Amino acid sequence: MSDSLGAGKRLERHTVGTYAAFEAEIFEMSDWEPELYNRFGRYRAEPVEQILARLPISGDERIADLGCGTGEHTIELARRASRGEALGVDLSPAMIDAAQKTKATLAGDLRDRVVFRVGDIATLDSEREYAIIFSNAALQWIPKHREVLGRWLRALVPGGRMVIQMPANDRETAKAALSDLAREEPWRALLSGIDASFREVPPPARYRQMLGEIGFSEIDCYYHTFHHPMQSPAEVVEWYRATGLRPFVSALPEDRRTAFLDSYRQRLERAYGTSGAVVFDFKRLFIWARRPAV
Ligand SMILES: C[S@@+](CC[C@H](N)C(=O)[O-])C[C@H]1O[C@@H](n2cnc3c(N)ncnc32)[C@H](O)[C@@H]1O
Repeated sequence: MSDSLGAGKRLERHTVGTYAAFEAEIFEMSDWEPELYNRFGRYRAEPVEQILARLPISGDERIADLGCGTGEHTIELARRASRGEALGVDLSPAMIDAAQKTKATLAGDLRDRVVFRVGDIATLDSEREYAIIFSNAALQWIPKHREVLGRWLRALVPGGRMVIQMPANDRETAKAALSDLAREEPWRALLSGIDASFREVPPPARYRQMLGEIGFSEIDCYYHTFHHPMQSPAEVVEWYRATGLRPFVSALPEDRRTAFLDSYRQRLERAYGTSGAVVFDFKRLFIWARRPAV
């Protein structure tokens, strides 16, 4: 299976500031931790279950899973396209390594129809290659969505479908508390390289307009909020340690990281009003669109 994504690029670019401008902060960050990320796998799977319930797959599609992480969704997509192929691409060598290990456990036919590569999905330059582009919880890490989505349009075959899901919970208690904490001393000085303002994922209306201007058709963009019961605010910290906290933690000196995580937990306990069970509300943005058939 061919693809034209660059391989082996270092993880070096992440947006931590406002999404209004889609501009990236540039700094080095440690690689992802697949085990930590999958600790809340049951909850993280819920948006994907919604997508799969609505995504028609006839069986012979070539599918791209952009920002595939540990690859479970890539494999499920290949399973559903029983005569097709699925390519999973991710910038993180640790994620792709985990995906390759899972792939090695698959039965022959399915294994042969799944490919994983390290690559940057922001610079995808395939032409008319995929019947389906699927991207779950990855695009929010990338700036310049108009340009990137233009590339993804070109990578679709005419009539091909794109489905994207991104977290859009920037004003939820845990995210707002993190921004507040990072703006206060002593953390502000230690995190001076990071813009900790709200990461505004643009609203559905903005994507609807942008995708129309780029040339997509059959556009459907909407929010859905998931409700995740957690045993404590400390569990919410664990959730974010795998994702949104990573740029903050990796920017801190190692001997201050535990203190930062403790302060964050205490702040969450105050914000939620408990150190016991909480419902963690998580708003997500879903984007569906098609490349016109002609
Ligand atoms: C939150 S994880 C989601 C993984 C997977 N899609 C899932 O649903 O479990 C985000 C993934 O996006 C990847 N990612 C971020 N920026 C990327 C880029 N420019 N190119 C490729 N992958 C990227 C990260 O390495 C990470 O594995």
